Amino acid sequence: MSEMERIDRAADYVRDVLGTAEIAIVLGSGLGDYAEVLTDAQVAPYHDIPGFPESTVPGHAGELYTGNLYGRRVMMMRGRFHSYEGYPLSDVTLPIRVMARLGVKALILTNAAGAVNTGFAPGELMLIDDYINFSGQNPLRGENLEAFGPRFPDMSRAYDRELRALALDVAERENITLRQGVYAWFNGPCYETPAEIRMARVLGADAVGMSTVPETIVAVHSGLRVLGVSCLTNMAAGILDQPLSHQEVVETGAKARASFRRLLDGVVQGMEL
Ligand code: HPA
Repeated sequence: MSEMERIDRAADYVRDVLGTAEIAIVLGSGLGDYAEVLTDAQVAPYHDIPGFPESTVPGHAGELYTGNLYGRRVMMMRGRFHSYEGYPLSDVTLPIRVMARLGVKALILTNAAGAVNTGFAPGELMLIDDYINFSGQNPLRGENLEAFGPRFPDMSRAYDRELRALALDVAERENITLRQGVYAWFNGPCYETPAEIRMARVLGADAVGMSTVPETIVAVHSGLRVLGVSCLTNMAAGILDQPLSHQEVVETGAKARASFRRLLDGVVQGMEL
């Protein structure tokens, strides 16, 4: 089966079972229960969707939702696929291409990230205004899928300016601290070394994480408007004199959940498509 056939088979299933949507949100670690805000929700476990891999990380449930939110048709991914789980990037980004096939216009990517910028603090949110790909991988490697976009897509405005302005407005109105900065993608699954974090800072990174960039690349290639928001769950390795733990990431993520939800609510409400 060709990659295009694989994408279309998954898209046909999702269209039949869940319907389509105009906005999609990928819910990162700890944010999964935001899917409960949808009304008239339909849900499919990833393992029912033809071609979808299964999510293996605790805290990533692995379900695709559609429903209504503020009069909008919204799709949500509860759980995402990461390269460090062993999936090829074609699997990691399959859901994004399915969304593009279903007519999704705007994609909100959320994640947990480590703060590299020492002016930032755990528990704060960061609007992603650009990315650095430190993974050595690219999801567009291989035959170009012309149905989605060109061979050499422009990445000079990967994150949509209007959506960023909207997110900043919502944050101001809602009294949410929303930092802005560059998200750097490392493969994981180990956290970075202090030396890698110093390197990333010198090279312009404000936050580091193990997701979001492959999805951004495929979404931009497909012509989707992308907004990225990180929850800074910890100071990146070596900044504080203490080890990093997944538990810290999960606990701080949970504390930021309420402001994250208010931000997403306001963005969905205010979005002009
Ligand atoms: N590094 C990479 N990924 C992360 C981190 C981090 O410090 N925190 C949360 N996700």
